[in-house]
Amino acid sequence: MNFFLTEEQQVLQQAVREFAREEIAPRSAEYNRRHEFPWENFRRLAELGYLNMHLPEEYGGQGLDWVSYAIVIEELARACAVTAVIYEVHCSLHSEAIYLFGTEEQRRRYLPRLSRGELLGAYALTEPQAGSDAAAIQTRAERVGDEYVLNGQKIFITNGGVADVYIVFARTHPDPSLRHKGITAFIVEKGTPGLSFGPPERKMGLHASHTTAVYLENVRVPVENRLGPEGEGFKIAMAILDRGRIGIAAQAVGITQAAFDEAMKYATERHTFGKPIIEHQAIAFKLADMATELEAARLLTYRAAFLMDQGVPCTKEVAMAKLFASEVAMRQTVEAVQILGGYGYMEEYRVERLMREAKITQIYEGTSEIQRLVISRHLLKELQAARG
Ligand code: CAA
Repeated sequence: MNFFLTEEQQVLQQAVREFAREEIAPRSAEYNRRHEFPWENFRRLAELGYLNMHLPEEYGGQGLDWVSYAIVIEELARACAVTAVIYEVHCSLHSEAIYLFGTEEQRRRYLPRLSRGELLGAYALTEPQAGSDAAAIQTRAERVGDEYVLNGQKIFITNGGVADVYIVFARTHPDPSLRHKGITAFIVEKGTPGLSFGPPERKMGLHASHTTAVYLENVRVPVENRLGPEGEGFKIAMAILDRGRIGIAAQAVGITQAAFDEAMKYATERHTFGKPIIEHQAIAFKLADMATELEAARLLTYRAAFLMDQGVPCTKEVAMAKLFASEVAMRQTVEAVQILGGYGYMEEYRVERLMREAKITQIYEGTSEIQRLVISRHLLKELQAARG
């Protein structure tokens, strides 16, 4: 076993940390206050070559591993959780889907431009009646000649409206009892007649991230834009979420790290009863728990990414990382607010925003309950396999 990052990973970590601290963090509060999509951050990520680093060079990437990917998201989230999720959806939920399941023609048409930041990507699975139960989606895609005609509605789509290209999941078979077997994936471009978007949702946190409904009214998509074979869409959605959830786990680790940084700073500066509050056991023990849980969440996240790099099945380990890291983020951002007391409740101090941002990591890309379902199903399968 080796718990050390490679030299390349350490160099990358240092570089993205400095970039995020100097450029991303100072802009974060203002973008969120204005509910404004941080285009400048996306543009800079593209300029510096951070987009799609995990893809091969021929598609505009650098062939980096998933551990490096997790490191980048963690450092971005430490500075700005919004920038981290925009990056995550663009790189793993969207670009990775085209890379893994696209034809060579689709890869060449989209990936280099996605990697250069000329296009922004999104992933549209969730519907009003189908969130956790993703196989229950109702959006229809009917084959008519050389086209598919899509009708339906998606909700809560990250990068909705601002993205140029959408991975859309729809039923190519009318019988809903077929569940996942009737679902197919499509690449749908903004500007296609019949594709429209709701206004950005007003959310508890991540205010600068655009989350919208996506409406499909007789949207005609050429057969060449089908992603993977008919009926394989659900498996594509799940395989991609295995990658995406590593990113959300890393985002949760970054949010927790930011809360820890703020709490440590405050605890050493603030005095009560004649000494810094870190010297009171009540606060010192909170910080000790925070540091320990943070480290455990990071280790689970890096291990999930490492397993993905080895090409071994790791759905269970990814779910464990996402579950644990997001629960830690929620618990420990609440503790950070408590350590800062009244100041922690004020917008001026970052911890109240971190607390609101942590909440979504327990919900999107599969709630904590869905991660527990995935983990427990694997446990049962492993037990059955062991018993023969
Ligand atoms: N990889 C590949 N294939 C997989 C898979 C995986 N990780 N998980 C399941 N499958 C396959 C199964 O093997 C099965 O295939 P067969 O028919 O060949 O056996 C098929 O998919 C169906 O699997 P299940 O029977 O397990 O399906 P299910 O209906 O019971 O649902 C679920 C499984 C895990 C609950 C799934 O519905 C799920 O993950 N739900 C949560 C949805 C979710 O995460 N949504 C997030 C939206 S995106 C988002 O949030 C982005 C954002 O805003 C940032």
